[in-house]
Amino acid sequence: MLILSQEEVKQIIPLTEIKKVVDRVEDAFLKYGKGEVDMPPKTYLYFKKDNGDLRVMPSFSEELKMAGTKIVNVHPDNPKNNLPTVGAVIVLNDAKTGAPLALMDGTYITGMRTGAAGAVASKYLAKKSAKTLGVVGAGRQSLFQIAATSSIIKLQDICVYDTNEKSIEVLSNELSKLNIKIRKAGIEEVSKQDILTTTTPSRSPIVKSDWVAAGTHINAVGADAEGKEELDPTILKRAKIIVDDWAQASHSGEINVPVSKGIITKNDIYGSLGEVVAGIKTGRENDSEITVFDSTGLALQDLFTAEMVYQEALKRGIGKDIKIF
Ligand SMILES: NC(=O)c1ccc[n+]([C@@H]2O[C@H](COP(=O)([O-])OP(=O)(O)OC[C@H]3O[C@@H](n4cnc5c(N)ncnc54)[C@H](O)[C@@H]3O)[C@@H](O)[C@H]2O)c1
Repeated sequence: MLILSQEEVKQIIPLTEIKKVVDRVEDAFLKYGKGEVDMPPKTYLYFKKDNGDLRVMPSFSEELKMAGTKIVNVHPDNPKNNLPTVGAVIVLNDAKTGAPLALMDGTYITGMRTGAAGAVASKYLAKKSAKTLGVVGAGRQSLFQIAATSSIIKLQDICVYDTNEKSIEVLSNELSKLNIKIRKAGIEEVSKQDILTTTTPSRSPIVKSDWVAAGTHINAVGADAEGKEELDPTILKRAKIIVDDWAQASHSGEINVPVSKGIITKNDIYGSLGEVVAGIKTGRENDSEITVFDSTGLALQDLFTAEMVYQEALKRGIGKDIKIF
């Protein structure tokens, strides 16, 4: 079994090459849309006393001849102790024998593949003339969202809001290494951009409906567990809602709270991003629609990215091979 540390995964797909992950994740959505893969919804364990949770995310692709399982935590208080909010490992198994092929860091892959999903959604759902991006939340995930979207859309202006201004400085420094410029702005201005990405752990709506103009595409990324939400539900009522997966989104995505209150039902959901990528559903039909992509994170995004990393590691002789049994 090949062991790959975070440093080794980063060596194989540095942030400067996030476009490769965007393409790979687009392929994962395509296969999901066509029904060519197997993926039960992720399961959760809640550590209520420790304000955190642990998720197990398996999936299988016949084409890749591989299954992948990610074990990932979300602990919002971790940064106070200099630990990341999200940490993960991914195991790849050979479909033919079931044998484990690789164990690799999944923390960095989670960041890259989540940013990539936002970029794929923006490619298919934002209006063609979109050139401004607003981001609410300047934590770890915002780096990947901005890098991925910038890799496929020529953005002229990127503005960011965070309750903690220091996070914006750190983000700005990281992005300057990729020659990407951002500026600080208030939440209302950030919400008025062509593409709006929300990526905070908020448990109550922070973006108001009045701030969101016709034609906006929103990537709602932060809500990925029961009780989390970032958007005023009125925005959802005005929008075409596209989920990554109905079972996951209704349980833990941006729509989970409005669904539990009966404000949104399954009938209000337009379809999945996979269906749009596969051409089964049209997606945006005019420049005045508001589109919302509810991203909860698919195990398939991890599998397709991790498989690419694994093949590249074998080719380049990176990683440590160990006999596990
Ligand atoms: N959809 C997915 O696939 C996916 C994947 C990874 C992470 N996430 C989620 O995305 C969120 C962000 O993850 P991260 O790793 O960037 O976390 P992080 O802790 O690194 O960053 C969160 C940022 O949000 C800011 N913030 C908190 N409340 C805010 C508010 N009300 N207004 C503005 N800013 C606020 C914080 O100051 C911080 O800078 C988490 O909820 C995480 O669970 C989703």
